[in-house]
Amino acid sequence: MTGIIADTKAIQYHIGLSTQMLCGAQYAFLPGDPDRVNPIAAFLDDARELTQHREYRSALGYVDDIPVLVMSTGIGAPSTGIAIEELARLGVTHFIRLGTTGAIQPHVHLGDLIISEGAVRLEGTSGHYAPIAYPAVPSLALTLKLIEATKLRDFPYQTGITCSSDSFWPGQERYDSFSGYVPRHLQGSLEEWQRLGVLNFEMESSALFTIARTFGLHAASLCGVIALRTQSEAVQQNVYAQVKERLAIVAREAVRLHHQAHGTPL
Ligand code: URA
Repeated sequence: MTGIIADTKAIQYHIGLSTQMLCGAQYAFLPGDPDRVNPIAAFLDDARELTQHREYRSALGYVDDIPVLVMSTGIGAPSTGIAIEELARLGVTHFIRLGTTGAIQPHVHLGDLIISEGAVRLEGTSGHYAPIAYPAVPSLALTLKLIEATKLRDFPYQTGITCSSDSFWPGQERYDSFSGYVPRHLQGSLEEWQRLGVLNFEMESSALFTIARTFGLHAASLCGVIALRTQSEAVQQNVYAQVKERLAIVAREAVRLHHQAHGTPL
């Protein structure tokens, strides 16, 4: 069976949005946390909240006259997959994840931005879209604009491979969990990813990259470092505000640059 069979006119079941509500937005900023939607949208022009259903809070704003949707994905790959499915039906073509992350390389600092060049698919959702041999890679054009925007603003950043895990504790080899146990097959995994040059752990990018690619759409990932896993398992809440601001500023700038270079996306 080929062709688009989803009902693209209806209010989408999980995210509570319709084509009409998006006002033609083809760019979407995707933080995980619903509480980050309005603060990020505040960096856009004429921002207003649209709706909230389950973990999906949404707002619409503009970069110059380009409409941009901001919508939370919730935590992890399954809810991110649902977000991409339903936004794609509504005409979104360019997805920028704006997340938080734990760095696993010693040269990375708190507050640094990490722009992913690819992601380890340590989650199950993307495997429902493409075999595990399929690479989780972002859009080169969008990623280059994130780098350019970050440089323009002079924020500290790193580019490299991200590991997207299906769990916050064992999959990221954290021992401060309820049981304190990490199954044998994941013991030593943090060191292995380090030795393979992986920069950071988070939970959404590989599903986003894989699903967007299989749809012929474009995705990129920008994350702020809130944990230094070479030093501690804890997240450092005191960098949240700085990270949130940096993500919003860079994403806005990247849309402007991308639109300037490529025109109306499609
Ligand atoms: N998000 C993660 O998935 N891991 C971290 O360490 C921090 C944020």
